[in-house]
Amino acid sequence: MSRGQLRTPLCELLGCEVPILQAGMGGVARAELAAAVAGAGGFGMLGMVREPPELIAREIDAVRARTDRPFAVNLIPAATDPALLAAELDTCLAARVPAMCFFWDVVPEAVARARDAGCLVLHQVGTLEAAQAAETAGADVLIVQGVEAGGHVHGRAGALVLVEEVARATALPVVASGGFASGASLVAALALGAQGIHCGTAFLATRESFAHDHHKRRVLAARAEDTVLTDLFSLNWPPGAPVRVIRNALTDAIGGTLFGHHPEALPPEVIAEDDGRPILRYSTDSPLRTTTGDLDAMPAFAGHSATLIDDLPTAAERIAAIMAEAEAALARLDALGGRDERP
Ligand SMILES: Cc1cc2nc3c(=O)[nH]c(=O)nc-3n(C[C@H](O)[C@H](O)[C@H](O)COP(=O)(O)O)c2cc1C
Repeated sequence: MSRGQLRTPLCELLGCEVPILQAGMGGVARAELAAAVAGAGGFGMLGMVREPPELIAREIDAVRARTDRPFAVNLIPAATDPALLAAELDTCLAARVPAMCFFWDVVPEAVARARDAGCLVLHQVGTLEAAQAAETAGADVLIVQGVEAGGHVHGRAGALVLVEEVARATALPVVASGGFASGASLVAALALGAQGIHCGTAFLATRESFAHDHHKRRVLAARAEDTVLTDLFSLNWPPGAPVRVIRNALTDAIGGTLFGHHPEALPPEVIAEDDGRPILRYSTDSPLRTTTGDLDAMPAFAGHSATLIDDLPTAAERIAAIMAEAEAALARLDALGGRDERP
């Protein structure tokens, strides 16, 4: 693989310079982050799950005020009330966003609406079956999420195997997600058959992300072993939808019982507030810049990749570092090959 190959055909399709996609993290990925990523040559996405259409319209305008590069809006059809989803899609399509990114169970009608409106459709999936369903529904790009990922985790297989499995089974461009936060992992993803990487935790820990500093500090301090996969934080989502979070007093208190928590069985108790909105204990809301209250009791989403994150740069610096590391990783591979050729 040569350095030029770091610019994959996916870059042409998405209209970006480098094959690094910033995950559309709900609450965390607003215009400031998505535009900074796009401006630095990556592909930025707004995380707009269950946001009111007025906020979505505002954020789309705010991205466009900062950059003229393409970007996507992320929604989660299967975890959104159908009337709200229809209104969210109306807003995105009326604004003629270049791309939509969906996650969780494939909802073919949502994919079809976006495609019919001329949007590029990216779909994140956690199993081969979901990848096939997304392809059948008309997705243009498959983002393949391994169990190492931060936030909601759709499947149970590790990215090392799942990315290759899906890449072998489809002709669509594949993007590797879950545990990818460095240049070496970008090179590894390309070797597995992917054309780029999709990073959440690495961009949460940047200056432009809308996460609360408390959450960012926890990511900088955490290693992979400090994260747990649990369905304890389950309000607002279908039952049995687990998240990867940095362990806290709530996850410690349930010991080994990480699964089997049903949203309706959990006691409703307000523990924080965001922009005038009450936040309940066990909800999937993570602490944002605007959140006040018991931040320690809220889910601090992070993936295994937290191990590799120990600084808080700008998004542009994060992208530049990943690309410099990828070039260094390629040089190391060249050197290994050169050694093999010596008599
Ligand atoms: C704070 C946070 C919020 C997330 N919110 C969303 C979301 O709203 N929509 C989505 O498709 N994925 C969401 N994800 C998952 C990411 O799309 C992606 O799968 C994950 O970040 C990849 O693993 P990494 O964190 O190790 O990079 C979120 C992840 C994090 C860390």
